Amino acid sequence: MHVFLGITGASGAPYAAGLLEALVAEGCEVGLSASVAGIEVLATELYGDASLPREETLARLLEHVGGAVRVHAPDDWRAPYASGSAQVDAYVICPCSMGTLGTLASGSMSNLIHRAASVALKEGRKLVVMPRETPLSAIHLRNMLTLREAGATILFLAPGFYHRAETVGDLVDFVVARALDQLGLENSLAQRWGQS
Ligand SMILES: Cc1cc2nc3c(=O)[nH]c(=O)nc-3n(C[C@H](O)[C@H](O)[C@H](O)COP(=O)(O)O)c2cc1C
Repeated sequence: MHVFLGITGASGAPYAAGLLEALVAEGCEVGLSASVAGIEVLATELYGDASLPREETLARLLEHVGGAVRVHAPDDWRAPYASGSAQVDAYVICPCSMGTLGTLASGSMSNLIHRAASVALKEGRKLVVMPRETPLSAIHLRNMLTLREAGATILFLAPGFYHRAETVGDLVDFVVARALDQLGLENSLAQRWGQS
């Protein structure tokens, strides 16, 4: 499966790292692009250094995932994800900031992540948007509804607790498992309700 993963500047870097690892473990071909703010959040939340340079941040993120990931700069308009003519099975934005959410809902685009999501919608392909903010304004809520009506799946970054999570990793796995489910990828990352 060929998947595009866009990382934007909302809190939730562990979700992005967990999802990336899981996609590679599932044998997916992954194209990755992180916005400027996305890099800052990765650097802050995963490596404790908000000013870590882009290249170093990405190198650390990719350290454990092997070679199936291709990284694209946010202004790489020659990437396959910039066009509907490229064969891509699914697109995921994780985490999705309210800034990117608003841009996607408006149909405008200024980086590869916006463009990839727009391509997914116009081509009728799977788009999973994983927003994070709290509380939510009426504008945020309307933007999510707009995207849902346009065909996106809104997978809000809100882990459940019914699987008796013991660690932060368990909570991350819960969300990653729901994202993999949306992509039709077999996984047993989190216990399923009613199925032990
Ligand atoms: C450490 C950190 C955490 C942030 N958390 C959030 C968040 O949870 N949700 C959100 O919408 N924006 C958050 N922001 C603000 C966004 O990064 C900012 O609006 C940015 O312009 C989004 O750009 P992007 O969508 O291109 O990544 C955060 C910023 C930083 C530096």
